[in-house]
Amino acid sequence: MEYNLSPSLLAADFANLQDAFEALESAGVKWLHLDVMDGVFVPNLSFGITVISSIRKATNLFFDVHLMITDPIRYVEDFANAGADLINFHLEACDDPRAVIDAIKKTGKKVGITIKPKTPVDALIPYLEQVDMILLMSVEPGFGGQSYIPGSTEKIKKLRSMIDDRGLKTDIEIDGGVGLGNIREVLDAGCNIVVAGSAVFKGDIAESAGKFNKVLEDYQS
Ligand code: DX5
Ligand code: ZN
Repeated sequence: MEYNLSPSLLAADFANLQDAFEALESAGVKWLHLDVMDGVFVPNLSFGITVISSIRKATNLFFDVHLMITDPIRYVEDFANAGADLINFHLEACDDPRAVIDAIKKTGKKVGITIKPKTPVDALIPYLEQVDMILLMSVEPGFGGQSYIPGSTEKIKKLRSMIDDRGLKTDIEIDGGVGLGNIREVLDAGCNIVVAGSAVFKGDIAESAGKFNKVLEDYQS
């Protein structure tokens, strides 16, 4: 299993993105988490297709796109063309998750399903075999800088055993309120991709990302 930090760009200074990418790359970061919000599925707006396609030209980081938008199937192809490497959509945002999975697969990109804190992991059972990653939200989606919801750790543990019991290699990503103080808790519970926004970008980016990567290396070996 590969362990990775996926820094959430939402917390970055958008006037200095090139510097941010260089700092992340210099710290050995491989992934970048891109939070797309539509003001309907979540009570906030962020950025979308145009921004992703311009930053695609500025970095080779793996684009882990988190769609917080209603009826995501409408934009799957656009996000794939913009440069997404993995497209996560919310189970709660669509009527036919299987159709969204198929649409993402058709573009050749990796596919992830995301669930909100109040959605039980059992809701994922019908789709586990079809996806590359499950993204568990550990805060209510919509805003960076919130506190980690403690019950999320039990959800990670349960999902990891559901995945292991089926002999699958599915990645588990955790998103929201994760910092250096609780990263070991989420890794011990069984996730292998860690999103961190404020904890990476609200300070020295390379230094913080380097500290996260050091912890991740312990789990990798
Ligand atoms: C929330 C987003 C998260 C958020 C994480 O809706 O999905 O990715 O940016 O930010 P922190 O790490 O600050 O909780
Ligand atoms: Zn996110």
